[in-house]
Formats: sequence, C-alpha cells, structure tokens
Amino acid sequence: MTTDSFASAVLRWYDRNGRKDLPWQQERSPYRVWVSEIMLQQTQVATVIPYYQRFMDALPTVEALAAAEPDEVLHLWTGLGYYSRARNLHRAAALVVQEHGGRFPESVEQLMTLPGIGRSTAGAIASLAMGLRAPILDGNVKRVLARYHAIEGWPGERSVHDQLWAVAEAHLPDQRVDAYTQAMMDMGATLCTRTRPSCLVCPLADACQARILGEPTRYPQAKPRKALPVRQCLMPVLVNPDGEVWLERRPDSGLWGGLWTPPQLDHHEELEALLSSRGWVHRDSTLLQPLRHTFSHFHLDIQPLLVRVQPGDSVAEAGQVWYNLRQPSRLGLAAPVKKLLQQAEQLVHPVQGG
Ligand code: ADE
Repeated sequence: MTTDSFASAVLRWYDRNGRKDLPWQQERSPYRVWVSEIMLQQTQVATVIPYYQRFMDALPTVEALAAAEPDEVLHLWTGLGYYSRARNLHRAAALVVQEHGGRFPESVEQLMTLPGIGRSTAGAIASLAMGLRAPILDGNVKRVLARYHAIEGWPGERSVHDQLWAVAEAHLPDQRVDAYTQAMMDMGATLCTRTRPSCLVCPLADACQARILGEPTRYPQAKPRKALPVRQCLMPVLVNPDGEVWLERRPDSGLWGGLWTPPQLDHHEELEALLSSRGWVHRDSTLLQPLRHTFSHFHLDIQPLLVRVQPGDSVAEAGQVWYNLRQPSRLGLAAPVKKLLQQAEQLVHPVQGG
C-alpha cells in the first residue's frame, strides 16, 4: 500500500508544526521512549517534562532502573499519580534485563508481554524508537480518527474499538512512521482538542466527516456515566515532640500500593484504639483542611487531623517511619499526602519572624 492522502497530509503538517524538541525525542532509545510513554499515559506533556528529566538523571538506563530500590522509583513518581505505572515499569525493567539481555524486544507482540505495556504503548515504542510500522491508538489519536471517519459510539465498546484500530492500521504510511506517530499525537493534543477543535488550521479538515457533518465534538461519544460514590476517611497526622510525622507503607496491592501515608481510619473511635495499642499518649489535636481525592471508581473525602502524641518507647518497625518534615527521606508519597504534610509543616514548624 502506498502512503495515503491522510498520512501525507499528517506528515506535511508534522514537518511544519510537529514537536521536535521534547526531551524523549532527544537521544532517542527504546528505554527513553518507553519511560516517556508510560508517564504520558494519564498525564500532560507539561507536567511530565520535569519528572521525566529527574527520572532520567537518576536512572539513565534500563539496567539502572532494574537495580533501583522500589522506594526510589516510587519517590521519583511522587505526584504523577497512578502508581501502578511505576511498579509495572520497575517489574518490566527487571524482565528486559533478565529475559532479554537488556535489549527491548523488537515487536509489538513481544513488547506487549511486558507489564504496563498495552497495544498502543507497544505501537508507540515500536514506531518512535524502532521505526517499525505499528499503529497507536491513545486517547488523542482515537479522537482524530473517530472524527475523521465519524465513527459512532463509545470507544470502550468492542466494535467501536475494533473499527478505530482498523483505520489506525489502514492509514499508516510506509515511510517515516516515527514522524507520523508523533504528528498524530500532537494533532490530537493541540488541534483536534476535545471541546474546541481548531478545524480551520487542520490538515485533515477537507475530508473530515465529523466536520462535514458540522458536529466535530460529537465524536467520539462519551462513556455513559454514573456518578461516582463518595467515601470518607479520617487521616490522623501523628506528630511526636521532635516534629516528626508517623507514616506507614501501604501494601503493594490496592490503593496507593507501596506508598507511604498516615494511618487511614473509618471512625474517630479507631484513633484512640490505635494510640493505646502503641502505648502513645494523645496530647492535643487540630482539624486540618479537608481534601477530596478522586480515584477512578470513587471520591475519597479525607478529613485530616493533626494529633500531637507522646510516644512511649515503641520503635518503628519495617513499613513504619517517623518522617522528618524538614529533612524528608526519599519515600513515595501519594499526591494528597504530600499536600497534607505541607499543611502540617506550617503548624508544626511555623515560619519564624515577620
Ligand atoms: N503523549 C503520549 N506520547 C506522547 C509523545 N511522544 N509526545 C507527546 N505527547 C504524547
């Protein structure tokens, strides 16, 4: 098949307008592209860039990542969210080193055997870093294709999903798949935006069925939505007389797996039980600003409480730590916990002077 008019228009657009200076486009390698694609899965480019640079400085090769401590990897991920991405990244690095001698396997099918790499991410690594002729279908590209072909329905439905993959495959050019892939992502992110597409400057506008029908934003259709349930919890920030905060490491599976958080309680009575079980004396407590954290399946309303305690002689065991707010150790913290500790720090170590 020759490069079709769709792909030619996309490539011409890339030459004039595509992004060529992103950090993962420099010194391009499967490792660098892979890490960027995982970070970019649920997160915007501008947010990712500083995290990406820190990550690459700390762990510049797949061998370095494979050999890193889990806490180091989660620490580098702190604030990006969706932490299973970081755990999968770490597991996949170990597999690349152990099973593939440190080289990423050079096919979409084999890349997909690695944890955290689905078909689209495998396609991105294969096309961007290996020059293989493989399609991608991330959220941005789905939007471009669903509009161009006016594909009805929600892409979460099997038949819609299959149609989108089929057109993604059909439009692939024979040459320059790396530039084409990057252009499709960029067009989706910058021109063919969800609510206000810039059809006037879009190279695909002439044949875009959604535009011709006069309703570009009708496509792709949204998931039929249910309201998310709300759960509530109490999160005591336990502070000792040295101004350190008690954190516990979460089990690897489940919410915030492997990250460090204050205890999470369902009821106020559990607080006294927790303190007396450790032999700690409750000195006083102050309510902090409530916060809401939204997971994919529910909202969690967190009521934080600053609790000053006099710990007895009990010591922190594995998975527990007295965390020094002023000289924080390198641990993975969930994003709302980071915010919470900043609030707590204001009370525990108020800024002097003024
Ligand atoms: N989103 C996912 N991958 C991307 C990339 N390579 N460049 C820009 N945005 C992206």
